[in-house]
Amino acid sequence: MVKARKTFKIITYGCQMNQRDSEMMADLLQEAGYEPVAQEEEAGVIILDTCCVREKAENKVYGKLGQIEGLKSSNPDLVIAVTGCMVQQPGVAEKIRQQAPYVDLLLGTGNLQELPQLIEEIKAMHRPRVVVGEQEGQVVEDLPRRRARGAQAFVTITYGCNNFCTYCIVPYVRGRERSRRPENIIKEVKELVDQGVIEVTLLGQNVNSYGRDLENGINFAGLLERVNDVEGLKRIRYVTSHPRDFTPELVTTISQLDKVCEHVHLPVQAGSNRILELMHRGYTREHYLELVADLRRQIPGISLTTDLIVGFPGETEADFEDTLDLVARVQFDNAFTFMFSPRRGTEAAIMPGQLPTATKKERLKRLMELQNRISLAKNEALVGQEVEILVEGPSKTDPDQLSGRTRTNKLVIFPGDQSLTGRLVKVRLTRAQTWLLKGEMVDG
Ligand code: SAM
Ligand code: SF4
Ligand code: F3S
Repeated sequence: MVKARKTFKIITYGCQMNQRDSEMMADLLQEAGYEPVAQEEEAGVIILDTCCVREKAENKVYGKLGQIEGLKSSNPDLVIAVTGCMVQQPGVAEKIRQQAPYVDLLLGTGNLQELPQLIEEIKAMHRPRVVVGEQEGQVVEDLPRRRARGAQAFVTITYGCNNFCTYCIVPYVRGRERSRRPENIIKEVKELVDQGVIEVTLLGQNVNSYGRDLENGINFAGLLERVNDVEGLKRIRYVTSHPRDFTPELVTTISQLDKVCEHVHLPVQAGSNRILELMHRGYTREHYLELVADLRRQIPGISLTTDLIVGFPGETEADFEDTLDLVARVQFDNAFTFMFSPRRGTEAAIMPGQLPTATKKERLKRLMELQNRISLAKNEALVGQEVEILVEGPSKTDPDQLSGRTRTNKLVIFPGDQSLTGRLVKVRLTRAQTWLLKGEMVDG
């Protein structure tokens, strides 16, 4: 008898934490004999790795669950699993069970290593399972050897977050901050380099507080120094930086390490001190502007990106104008802009002064218009320069061309052969758009 193929498809929502978790689940499943497939229709197991940072993210998941219900009726053996941050919220597992009773498995972020075993149990018993433990499980290190996927890789350095920004659900669903031991991080980076990786992105909700919970006194600057020493590695990135914890020592260290890329994602969230305080961010706009000046002084050509929230409870027109003013002063290369979304269980969700959606939309539009003008001007200023690009593969918008990123994290599209994927090439920038640059290769 021919054995049936075991196949899976993972659909990932949210941030790089989830992307990394999804990779880990894919590794676990492949270890257990499953093959990844491109289409949901071909999969024997479908996993939705969910995000709940804003309401929109949750709505997408409920929409998707509705779509895949039909697949279950045509294939009763299909196993549908929901994992990720949504599952960690109180009451949400019950809500999904009610709204989508055809879901077979609800699995918390601290229990992912149980995935293959649970799927086998579900197949054998034909009974749904809910496995949601503490968010703060131990840092698990003895997972199967991870597979590199091309020349770039995410490497988690901390789990969870201790900051409790008043709008944010992440500390509730991902638990308190836990740092991985430096030797485990370095071992993982070396293994990835052995598999052909040349660029790593170190991941944490606040990379700047790395090591505070470890007894050996290492901090983020010390970790960067050790990663920088890994032979064969060419580029180091890191997200996310917290302006409160970005020390002058760290700025200097970054300026001295050749592999650390000239880009910082430094979410400011708001430009008004009153709102920053209500957000519990722990810095002022003056501190932020000084930090930006220091980064630009010590790291010439550095690109800066940010996250901004409009319509936080109580935000007045004057507060919002402070945000516009800060954005105009800093001249960010790019910004992710969000309308405040009240998250159940967070402080801001019940603060007085909740704003109507129309006000939030109008402010978001003004902010985006300003930032788009700045992004375009910043890109235009780069035209004519020769830059190093790590080729990521065919461009999504024009598959006949290649796309890749500069050290400053600018997306560049240029003609070239697919075989260059994963390589570093020299490109002259020829044309600027708001979100990307066009270029041509200088040498092969
Ligand atoms: N730890 C990072 C930080 O400190 O910025 C990223 C956290 S979150 C995954 C990414 C972004 O989502 C935040 O920077 C913030 O701008 C936005 N965000 C978080 N909660 C939000 C909410 N309730 N409404 C709107 N945007 C939110
Ligand atoms: Fe959320 Fe703030 Fe933690 Fe970032 S630092 S994950 S915004 S609580
Ligand atoms: Fe979303 Fe969880 Fe990341 S809530 S933004 S996937 S940590």
